[in-house]
Amino acid sequence: PHIAVLHGPNLNMLGTREPTVYGHETLDDINTSLLTLGQALNVEVSCLQSNAEHVLIDHIHSLRGHCSAVIINPAAYTHTSVAIRDALAAAELPFVEVHLSNVHQREAFRHHSYFSDLALAVICGMGSEGYRAALRFLSQKF
Ligand code: DQA
Repeated sequence: PHIAVLHGPNLNMLGTREPTVYGHETLDDINTSLLTLGQALNVEVSCLQSNAEHVLIDHIHSLRGHCSAVIINPAAYTHTSVAIRDALAAAELPFVEVHLSNVHQREAFRHHSYFSDLALAVICGMGSEGYRAALRFLSQKF
């Protein structure tokens, strides 16, 4: 199986971005841990981060038929993007939604997600472990 990991806007700043909320790990640290875990689970893992909505959408389109499932942290687009939601539906890609922080403990505008009702599973508040939990879950499913 091939699992594609997608990271939305500002996640390239992990490590220095609000470390009390998001931790000290960098995005490279997280991606490296996912590639390592993927090898152990016999799953091909690819990772992409973008700050641009259309780049995420184009990438999702390109994944149609080329991967088993997606792990996505849409970051701020979680709360705004009908377009990324529609892209995942159009590409018929099963996905797990991941958030580092527990969005439900935070501002009210973070409580709604345009993705959760379509997601196979939603993980939040586990820090970077959430991505690895999603990968373990998907590796058993596909
Ligand atoms: C986030 C939560 C979002 O509300 C926020 O906009 C992010 C990161 C998380 O991983 O906790 O950028 O998706």
